[in-house]
Amino acid sequence: AIAIALQLSVLFGFLPLSACDDLRRSHFPASFIFGTSTSSFQIEGAYLDDQKSLSNWDVFSHIPGRIEDASNADIADDHYHLYLEDVKLMASLGVNAYRFSISWSRVLPRGRNGGINSLGIAFYNKLIDALLLKGIQPFITLNHYDIPQELEEQYGGWLNSQIQEDFGYFANTCFKEFGDRVKYWITFNEPNIVAANGYMAGTYPPNRCSHPFSNCSSGDSSIEPYIVAHNIILAHATAVDLYRLKYQQGGSVGIVVATDWFEPLRNVTADYEACQRASAFYFSWFLDPFVHGDYPPEMRQILGARLPKFSASEKEKLRNKLDFIGINHYTSLCVKDCMLSACDVVDLGLDAFVATTVMPDFYVVPRGMKNIVMYMKRRYNNMPMIITENGYPQGSYRNTTLKELLNDKERVEYLQSYLSSLHEAMRQGADVRGYFIWSLLDNFEWLYGYSLRFGIYHVDYETQVRTPKLSANWYRKFLGHSKLLI
Ligand code: NOJ
Repeated sequence: AIAIALQLSVLFGFLPLSACDDLRRSHFPASFIFGTSTSSFQIEGAYLDDQKSLSNWDVFSHIPGRIEDASNADIADDHYHLYLEDVKLMASLGVNAYRFSISWSRVLPRGRNGGINSLGIAFYNKLIDALLLKGIQPFITLNHYDIPQELEEQYGGWLNSQIQEDFGYFANTCFKEFGDRVKYWITFNEPNIVAANGYMAGTYPPNRCSHPFSNCSSGDSSIEPYIVAHNIILAHATAVDLYRLKYQQGGSVGIVVATDWFEPLRNVTADYEACQRASAFYFSWFLDPFVHGDYPPEMRQILGARLPKFSASEKEKLRNKLDFIGINHYTSLCVKDCMLSACDVVDLGLDAFVATTVMPDFYVVPRGMKNIVMYMKRRYNNMPMIITENGYPQGSYRNTTLKELLNDKERVEYLQSYLSSLHEAMRQGADVRGYFIWSLLDNFEWLYGYSLRFGIYHVDYETQVRTPKLSANWYRKFLGHSKLLI
């Protein structure tokens, strides 16, 4: 049996898992990346320190009524001051990578005008150096939702093609300042959510949409999300061109999409086709152009001229501009045929799924991980993939005790089962290179503020004390580090 296992490990690069085995780090390839993820706005705080300017999320979160618990991220986890402690937490887990984002408004407070903020650059340099000292590879996300408010006010942010160049300038600054040590770059985190929530549902800044009943300012949901997407996709290509042609720093650049796995409500062709459309509208929207040179045919068929066209030179510019696909995956939804609409956010027939109860539309469906990875494998020629986020929310209401929050066995079960499902996809040949838990720390969960906690470390927002949850100890043990954290 040992000989067969060894032969298989030579063949696949990692050990197969037998039914009675507990999944361990050693079942994954030795080079596999295991990390934790965060984003600047959600953890840094220090929202006006050291010449940082306001981001669109700073402004938005201060508008009364926008954030569920009326909080903001002015202080958040105060990671800006506590980063060394946070790097130590990661080192004690035994992760070999950390995914974080750069605050655009900290590095370039005035967008393109006004110069580079050396204090902002110094902060990220210190963070990167501290990580490398502990053997932790930095994975930098250039844009994780927040942009300088000034760009929004000056010319309408992502709606204006001018932002392609400005994002290129920001990316260039980061490659120049950090690229000697950082070898993994992500241009955008979940641009599909930026476009859909900012310009379709209107719930995220800049709150544009055309539903008369909603709380958004003016906008046209029938075209704006697609214009925004177009600008983001081309901005990605601009950044990759710069990275490859100007710097030759030898790293890789990818993009991260939010994914749900869509299952048909009934075993009928119409529902299968609806799933296909849902995936196309939800995330293939941002991936097909790089691999197939255009938006998904499912989108073109329904949206027609509302979907912008790539010119011949733009198509050329997009070609071969992804080194890896970043996949944020949490949950699955059921879809039923809804004729000529996208069916993307319809959640119907949830009987088969276990709900977390704290977050709407969040169901525990481990098989979704394998399914989404296999979908990407098929549709994108098994391009290297990285699971850039996977995690589990806890509600933190007034009556939840610290003890309950620390004893997060549901999160442990969730992570274990999703990792097993990922491992299954890899056994079936999917080229997955890494996995990041969202999140290292409890943090500012966008519209939910601090009322939802995704961290494997608990954060007491009064004292900024970090305490490992059961899940932190589980991850540490899984990764092969033996010292108990509590
Ligand atoms: C996706 C986003 O990238 C991240 O910022 C968010 O906190 C998590 N998912 C959890 O909702």
